[in-house]
Amino acid sequence: MSSCCFNGGAGWPEPVVRVQAVSDTCGDTIPDRYVKPPSDRPSPIPPASAAGVAGGPSIPVVDLSMLDADAASRAVAAACREWGFFQAVNHGVRTELLRGARAAWRGFFRQPAEVRERYANSPATYEGYGSRLGTAKGGPLDWGDYYFLHFMPQSLKNHEKWPSLPPSLRETTEEYGQEVVQLCRRVMRLLSSGLGLEAGRLASAFGGEGGEGACMRVNFYPRCPQPELTLGVAAHSDPGGMTMLLVDDHVRGLQVRSPDGQWITVDPVPDAFIVNVGDQIQVLSNAAYKSVEHRVTVSAAEDRLSMAFFYNPRSDLPIAPMPELVPPGHPPLYPEMTFDEYRVFIRQRGLAGKAQLDSLQAKPAAPVPDSDAGSPSSTTVL
Ligand code: OGA
Ligand code: NI
Repeated sequence: MSSCCFNGGAGWPEPVVRVQAVSDTCGDTIPDRYVKPPSDRPSPIPPASAAGVAGGPSIPVVDLSMLDADAASRAVAAACREWGFFQAVNHGVRTELLRGARAAWRGFFRQPAEVRERYANSPATYEGYGSRLGTAKGGPLDWGDYYFLHFMPQSLKNHEKWPSLPPSLRETTEEYGQEVVQLCRRVMRLLSSGLGLEAGRLASAFGGEGGEGACMRVNFYPRCPQPELTLGVAAHSDPGGMTMLLVDDHVRGLQVRSPDGQWITVDPVPDAFIVNVGDQIQVLSNAAYKSVEHRVTVSAAEDRLSMAFFYNPRSDLPIAPMPELVPPGHPPLYPEMTFDEYRVFIRQRGLAGKAQLDSLQAKPAAPVPDSDAGSPSSTTVL
């Protein structure tokens, strides 16, 4: 086994190549597998120094320390109705914890390859160190490696499956996750009130506090010699409930589809969370809140780390539009489905972008094909 390839043997159709190793060895030209079709390539990305100067449209920034809960709820709800995204500042998660978690995970991606490979994942659960989504042999690849772990329910959380190096990682990730779950619960209350519902209504649709699911995907995007040809994560919406994304403060990369259909590059506010609505909240809210497409561009100059914390409904609960939000005389926009079923649906269809949710809406009873042949990519790990 060379240090650049690891054939997990457990379910991947071909040897897994770490993007970190490709980045170190590919010179000026990226391998074809990472080259996106012209229509998917990012337009030239303005240098970070030009960030924000144009004053173009961008996702709202919401101060969560607002004393007036109604005002906070209105601001969060307006952002999620229009953009599906906002940046949360004064969110209550301690800055030292944000910085500590980012540093610990950077430390993991800096470990020697043999240390990282101890945690190599398989498509059975995706837990661990990974470099691809979906199992279609020869399919397109994104320019990023990741680490995927479960945080809730307790029965799925296993510290032994988290990296033991650097030594601070497990404890820091545990504390980080606990504070982020508290933040998720607060935002859920604001979202619920913002729909005109009782503050705990959305939480109970998720299975009640303690019944929810949560997992985390830490993304590492190495430097890329041809960033205009590829993407760190291709366009997708997050399948779960809600995502709390912590990004590098100084390297941009996240692009969000704006309400008028343009790709907008997010300028991260330092130590803010980028919060976005996932497909399950779009379904529960009967599309009042939008689960919006986003993607990640990469950089020739700098690598980038991001931590996506996914807050999900209990996976065996039926999820459907809340009846209070379905206008009389209209059918709900989506059929009922558990999150477990939804994940299978995505796995088998291997769809990208917003295709899975759109197909549900168009054909409520669409059967799930039992083969993933020809599926080009997928968002299963989210
Ligand atoms: C994700 C994601 C964005 C980023 O992991 O689902 O959208 O900036 N990440 O890494
Ligand atoms: Ni995402």
